[in-house]
Amino acid sequence: MQTVTDCTAFITGGASGIGLGMARAFAAEGAKLALADLDEEALDEAKHELNALTEVITIPLDVRDREAMAAAADRSERELGPVRVLCNNAGVGSGMGGMNLETMSYEHWDHTLGVNLGGVVNGVQTFVPRMVERGGPAHVVNTSSGSGLAVTGGAQFMYCASKYAVTGLSEAIGNLLKLYGIGLTLVSPGFVDTRIAETTRRLDPAEAEAESMDPEYREKLERFEALFEPLGQDPDEVGTMVLEAIHNDRFYCQPDRLMAEPIQARCSALLEAMPEETERDRKMAEMIEKARQ
Ligand SMILES: NC(=O)c1ccc[n+]([C@@H]2O[C@H](COP(=O)([O-])OP(=O)(O)OC[C@H]3O[C@@H](n4cnc5c(N)ncnc54)[C@H](O)[C@@H]3O)[C@@H](O)[C@H]2O)c1
Repeated sequence: MQTVTDCTAFITGGASGIGLGMARAFAAEGAKLALADLDEEALDEAKHELNALTEVITIPLDVRDREAMAAAADRSERELGPVRVLCNNAGVGSGMGGMNLETMSYEHWDHTLGVNLGGVVNGVQTFVPRMVERGGPAHVVNTSSGSGLAVTGGAQFMYCASKYAVTGLSEAIGNLLKLYGIGLTLVSPGFVDTRIAETTRRLDPAEAEAESMDPEYREKLERFEALFEPLGQDPDEVGTMVLEAIHNDRFYCQPDRLMAEPIQARCSALLEAMPEETERDRKMAEMIEKARQ
């Protein structure tokens, strides 16, 4: 899309951090905004700020709730017009539960996968058929993570599982959307100065319990969180990069280089694990190429 001026953008997790950064960038270009988030207080603050620039509605929403997502889509389109930019951005970290094999639980798995993957699935299932029916120009933005492209160490395994899934979903569906003139950007931030650690602790019911179980891990987590402020990227910068990716119809939006080496190492290891090329491999590659045409 060359511009988002006068378009309606629906942003989950739009009340804070990277989602709010996108909202600010889109508003500056004259997009109308539907901001959906669990945090009603933060939604009010965002509306108060952005109303000065553009038309804004705020929708209290849990992205795991499919009926509420459909109602949010109806309301956004009724009040602001067809949603042309969809940002599936709401997410949580996996906190203590996803860092420690001794404290992990089904509650942690369900929460992390439910929000980070389920929320994106629900956004796609709710909005994409409407976009496809109307045709482009339109654009979907899915927020994955550097942890959805490569793994560093074993911590955050639940988070990695959820974000790798978002990456795969986006890489596949992005190709199909092109046929309808609809773009997709996969944004995979590295280290952004947001309140994600606090959000995760507040929203994950199993988190408080896990933290109290293991002081050593708690300390490790605190050391990690302390890095966000001095080293984290400004979420508004990420929002501006996403807008540029929409303008240029770019699939990958990589806000920093944090994961460059792990990505390279992963790709090299995968390629090195493959056997010598055989006649069968050549025939299969030909077949796949033909099927693509
Ligand atoms: N901060 C980082 O370093 C970083 C790095 C890579 C990826 N990300 C991803 O960026 C996205 C945004 O996170 P952020 O860093 O801006 O954090 P944030 O906590 O500042 O913002 C996330 C927002 O999502 C909302 N939210 C959480 N669960 C929700 C739910 N079930 N339904 C609706 N809203 C919900 C929160 O209330 C919050 O306002 C997430 O998907 C996160 O995984 C962040």
